[in-house]
Amino acid sequence: MMTSWHARLVSSDVDFGGAPLLRGEFLLEEGHGEVLSATLFVSALGVVEAWVNGKKASEDLLTPGWSAYEWRVRYAELDVTALVGPTTVLGLALGNGWYRGRLTWTGASALYGDELAGFAELRVRFADGHVQVFGTDSSWSAGASATTSNDLYDGQDIDARKYDDGWLAPGFASPEWVGVLVLDDDLSRLEPYVGPPVRKQMELEPVRVWESPSGRVLVDFGQNVVGWVRTEVVGQEGAVVTLRHAEVLDHGELGTRPLRTAEATDRFTLSGRADVFEPSFTFHGFQYVEVAGWPGGAGALQSHGGLTAVVVSSELRRTGRFETSNRLVNKLHENTVWGMRGNFVDVPTDCPQRDERLGWTGDIAAFAPSACFLFDSQGFLRDWLRDLTLEQQHQDGIVPFVVPDVLKYVNHSAELPDPVTTALWSDAAVWVPWALWQAYGDRRVLEEAFPSMLSHARRLGQLLSPNGLWDTGFQFGDWLDPDAAPEQPAEAKADRHVVATLCAYRTADLLARIAQVLGDASAAAEFGAMADGLRAAFNEHYVQGGVVKSDCTTVYALAIVFGILNQADVEFAGDRLAGLVEAAGHRISTRFAGTPFVTDALTATGHLDTAYLLLLQTECPSWLYSVTKGATTIWERWDSMLPDGTINPGDMTSFNHYALGAVVDWLHRCVGGLAPLEPGYRRILVAPQPGGGLTWAKTTLETLHGLVCVRWEVIREDELHLVLVIPAGTEAVLRVPGAADEVLAAGAHERRFPWKSKASVLAVGV
Ligand code: BGC
Repeated sequence: MMTSWHARLVSSDVDFGGAPLLRGEFLLEEGHGEVLSATLFVSALGVVEAWVNGKKASEDLLTPGWSAYEWRVRYAELDVTALVGPTTVLGLALGNGWYRGRLTWTGASALYGDELAGFAELRVRFADGHVQVFGTDSSWSAGASATTSNDLYDGQDIDARKYDDGWLAPGFASPEWVGVLVLDDDLSRLEPYVGPPVRKQMELEPVRVWESPSGRVLVDFGQNVVGWVRTEVVGQEGAVVTLRHAEVLDHGELGTRPLRTAEATDRFTLSGRADVFEPSFTFHGFQYVEVAGWPGGAGALQSHGGLTAVVVSSELRRTGRFETSNRLVNKLHENTVWGMRGNFVDVPTDCPQRDERLGWTGDIAAFAPSACFLFDSQGFLRDWLRDLTLEQQHQDGIVPFVVPDVLKYVNHSAELPDPVTTALWSDAAVWVPWALWQAYGDRRVLEEAFPSMLSHARRLGQLLSPNGLWDTGFQFGDWLDPDAAPEQPAEAKADRHVVATLCAYRTADLLARIAQVLGDASAAAEFGAMADGLRAAFNEHYVQGGVVKSDCTTVYALAIVFGILNQADVEFAGDRLAGLVEAAGHRISTRFAGTPFVTDALTATGHLDTAYLLLLQTECPSWLYSVTKGATTIWERWDSMLPDGTINPGDMTSFNHYALGAVVDWLHRCVGGLAPLEPGYRRILVAPQPGGGLTWAKTTLETLHGLVCVRWEVIREDELHLVLVIPAGTEAVLRVPGAADEVLAAGAHERRFPWKSKASVLAVGV
């Protein structure tokens, strides 16, 4: 970590509005031989893009991302050796980003500060070992850019008449430019990124351009994405093209209501020449764009094009893939991948489109195991956990609802209290590092997170009642239960204190195991005892004759998977869970808390068929309902789009919320049959459980040791054919129903087993 800086944070003397520019110029020192390397460190209060001698210093976007800015502002370290010259001009453009832009649904902005500032330090190393350092200081100047306004929620306005690259050329001077103010900041907040930068991932062309019933020009990109639209257009000087973004259509028009107050609108003023607009100081969650002011209208856009969707996300390496003979299940999986891509834009967010986009802790607590399989999420989530720890340290050990925590600054809705320790949401402090440990087997992640876990769990311990239950205080519970009224998201079937006590048990139990891994015997004993106490209290107060209080799917799912029940009650609980699932017509009846665990609970208690029927249901509510409705991402509500094609009237109706996609974790482990037997997959469990009429499934994972591949196929309904690839340095245990376990060494394997297909489950959508 860099400890002493030459550069300072600087801001423009004049607030030009929009996205101000900062420039500095210097001469390379002579007599030191050739330049061996040039490294640029860039950061900002706001978001920043940097240029060196007229060229973009990197492909990174939205630098330095969003962290707990009060204590930690990250910097990017860029190799710009190829860009420096005898005279070198450094340029920075500053956007409002999360620092000064709008955040939360309260209309608040500038929650971290109202002054944008840029930071750049260039270190040039010469052949003789000399290092020349140049960076943001009082010699810099500031000016206005062509971006006249920008906000992550509301969009970006760019006036092409103001484009002028002159500021990036040596010797530039303009009477409109002013000096800079050097901020009195000790820079101790500056830290390197732990996770990856945000980058462009891909581009999509429109699949349809048409006129809506009310005569507006609409464009469909065929996929709900996160990013922006690059616009190439020629038109009259001063004419304005407006792009409004949304995820869905509403009665044939752009469906903007779910965005609440987010304007999601970019405005481009044309120069009269051929213009290219790319608004990178905002991002939208959208599939559709309404275009106003396009020269020549819909016809011209249809025939000549000009709009390209640019998909952005944190730069994560795709590691896990899954495919089966069932195209609806495949689409569900693909939609989960898209949901993750769009909600992993520097911070793991609930949603990417409305006036929210916050790092809700419960969402990632539910989704982390899935995320760690689909993409290499280690750096990304370790980075976020640093912020979680910092927030917690400054809030008396409380893990807040969102990280970074901006809710502490706003006057939010009455139903949300000030930060308190909350089941599932605060448990992210333990559940997320646990998921990282399982997926990547790196002890250092547990070590780093251990103090945060301890302080969370100890705080939680103090909240338990004398009867040993967690039965007081605020809880989200099984938030957005499908049987709750749209405007009563907390009115779940599952008693919130039952859910809280279950989550507390899981946290204590995991922490005891983590302490053991870390060799901390006294913490292992402390949390082992806490788990035992919770277990005893739960069974005494919440289980009667095998029936768990509130007698609904979520409580059985959690009780079974978390292992809290007395052995004698497990079979009853599994049967009761299966009975409830059947009674609901195999429609889903769980939400935030229960959904990630319900299929596992059924599988573990001998109700695999029921798990498949739940998975393959297409009627609302179900996982596949949204797929049959044409979804390309995972929705916030099971019925974000109602069966009659209208948008759910609830205030929280996002079409891109990854949490319910957590079922892919079960798909990978149980349907596909690929799971870690030891953290990090040095030992692998291959245990496919075919069913649901699926005739084959292929699951692959790029582990740290290499590629694992598990492909099974049911042949002629009486033979199970397995093809496996096990990477060097690992071994696998193959477990197939009806056969003895077999240990497999690294290499390729093929196995055949007699198989009895179950006719009870029909193939759906094959
Ligand atoms: C978010 C959820 C979040 C929840 C907490 C919602 O507004 O979108 O995903 O976890 O609030 O209750």
